[in-house]
Amino acid sequence: IAELNPALLALDWLLGVWESDEPGEGSFSSIPPFRYNERLHFSHVGQPVINFMFNAFHAENKKPMHRECGFIRIQPGGNRVAFIIAQNSGLVEIEEGDLTGQQLTLHTHALARTSFAKEPHVQQISRVFQLRPDGKLEQTVSMAMEGGPLMQHLHITYRRSS
Ligand code: HEM
Repeated sequence: IAELNPALLALDWLLGVWESDEPGEGSFSSIPPFRYNERLHFSHVGQPVINFMFNAFHAENKKPMHRECGFIRIQPGGNRVAFIIAQNSGLVEIEEGDLTGQQLTLHTHALARTSFAKEPHVQQISRVFQLRPDGKLEQTVSMAMEGGPLMQHLHITYRRSS
């Protein structure tokens, strides 16, 4: 097992495997509300980079749903954090934001999609990760479609599973 790169010390609270403790809640003005489970993996290989995979499953029939994976980089000597993300829906994204204690607030910095992506096209994504005092990790995701307002799409809490 590689030694943690010191550049990642401020983000060490993310590392490991997280499992939704109860189903997450999905919503958006244009879709029926839904529930899902999700497993998050955050790992490193000694580089100043976190590798991540997020895999969501239908809460009732357990079928795989949304998946995303990528890398997390932190600005050397700063508190700026970047998520470099590929999503199974055909979206690739860079989200950036600031780390304050054990909370990360991220916003889309760059976004691209396949030429044949379904409409509506998402324009902006924001998310907050927070390690709560009770040891649970919380993620809230909001998004905006072309010309639309930023609205919540996902809210979920996870417990550490390893
Ligand atoms: C729908 C984006 C994560 C489940 C949608 C839609 C978009 C979207 C653009 C279409 C809304 C419409 O038709 O008006 C995203 C983005 C995500 C994300 C950008 C990550 C940042 C997730 C996750 C789940 C999920 C983790 C968990 C299962 C769904 C479902 C629908 C939906 C069930 C409605 C049915 C469908 O269109 O497939 N999402 N989503 N999404 N999303 Fe997400």
